[in-house]
Amino acid sequence: MAHTAQPDHFWMPFTANRQFKSAPRLLERAEGMYYTSDDGRQILDGTAGLWCCNAGHGRREITEAVTQQLSKMDFAPTFQMGHSLPFQLAERLSEITPAGLNRVFFTNSGSESVDTALKIALAYQRAIGQGTRTRLIGRELGYHGVGFGGISVGGMTNNRKAFGALLPGVDHLPHTLDIERNRFAKGLPEQGAEKADELERLVTLHGAENIAAVIVEPMSGSSGVILPPKGYLQRLREITRKHGILLIFDEVITGFGRVGEAFASQRWGVTPDLITCAKGLTNGAVPMGAVFVSDELYDAFMTGPDSAIEFFHGYTYSGHPVACAAALATLDIYARENLFQKAIELESYWQSALKNLEDLPHIADIRTVGLVAGVQFETHAEGVGKRAYGIFRQCYEDGLLVRASGDTIALSPPLIIEKSHIDDLFGRFAEAIRKAG
Ligand SMILES: Cc1ncc(COP(=O)(O)O)c(C=O)c1O
Repeated sequence: MAHTAQPDHFWMPFTANRQFKSAPRLLERAEGMYYTSDDGRQILDGTAGLWCCNAGHGRREITEAVTQQLSKMDFAPTFQMGHSLPFQLAERLSEITPAGLNRVFFTNSGSESVDTALKIALAYQRAIGQGTRTRLIGRELGYHGVGFGGISVGGMTNNRKAFGALLPGVDHLPHTLDIERNRFAKGLPEQGAEKADELERLVTLHGAENIAAVIVEPMSGSSGVILPPKGYLQRLREITRKHGILLIFDEVITGFGRVGEAFASQRWGVTPDLITCAKGLTNGAVPMGAVFVSDELYDAFMTGPDSAIEFFHGYTYSGHPVACAAALATLDIYARENLFQKAIELESYWQSALKNLEDLPHIADIRTVGLVAGVQFETHAEGVGKRAYGIFRQCYEDGLLVRASGDTIALSPPLIIEKSHIDDLFGRFAEAIRKAG
């Protein structure tokens, strides 16, 4: 088949297809902190791919582990069969998860992890005789992937509005973005912990006996880096515990060192009942996700006759050998290079660099913690997203990859970043903001 000048067969995800295809941005290679574009330019990776390549690109150890595993055993089923790798990987993961979250269910993506966690929560409540607890609570502006469960508890309007009635029995807590009170906060904002109290109102409205679980991102990434106010997550934990409601942290972005420590749960000292993850689990090299579950929840399923399947759920590729090999090699790198501490070590340098942006044109807010930042711009007269998209394009032309979401540009570089890269990144970013006007 002949190549067309404007290839049009790939329906691109979360992309303005016609706009992109009229002027494609194609990446061809990746090494360390840099991509190389198809026209041979070095592009500094300010986004760790899509929040996933935390150990940087082209890690030889991962390539070797994957290659070896492929030649040894390409695939093996994990339904009523097994192989050693997911057992090993689950054990390794339990060494870095918060205390008590020692059971691991494998998936292939963040979206699948979310739907799995919601199903575990519902089935658990039923297993302990609390079958009326069927309601799920998410949060406005939350992003939990694109499965029907995830978009139902999620709170990003565009991801929900075209897709019908979604799951019934879902409520949303208010989001915690409060630019008026917390503008330019460094680290967790001071104001807003009381927004967690809205959960009490939902409990009063529905009765705790009807609510199964609350799911939140400890820090919302996709909706523009929205941080939990100081004390907010603690309040959510207290209220959920008081009412027998499960708490799920969606750590698909925050997991594996993004905000410091292995998980945000540890950085901010709040342990949920379940954690979802994906992305950094394999450094983005092979699709894989996981749900970490408390021993208490797991044990509640392990009743009835030994011959009975305890949880009717799973994916053909749950615990895929190649993904497990990539994840094991990734965890070795994280440990050897102490990468979960990197976001804490570099946090103040990163924050000072961001401070220099505050006086640039059209900056509405800057939010940051660990090695992540959301730089929000004033909305352009031509609509939401216009300004951030222009800056994103300018950055790419100038050799920097950032991520635009609405009026916010998110930065989340690989955790192997050095101070010199931070200088370079913010130099290019500031220049692009000036040029884009
Ligand atoms: C918090 C959160 N949950 C879930 C997902 C979905 O993950 P995936 O795209 O791997 O399905 C994402 C993706 O960015 C995410 O940020």
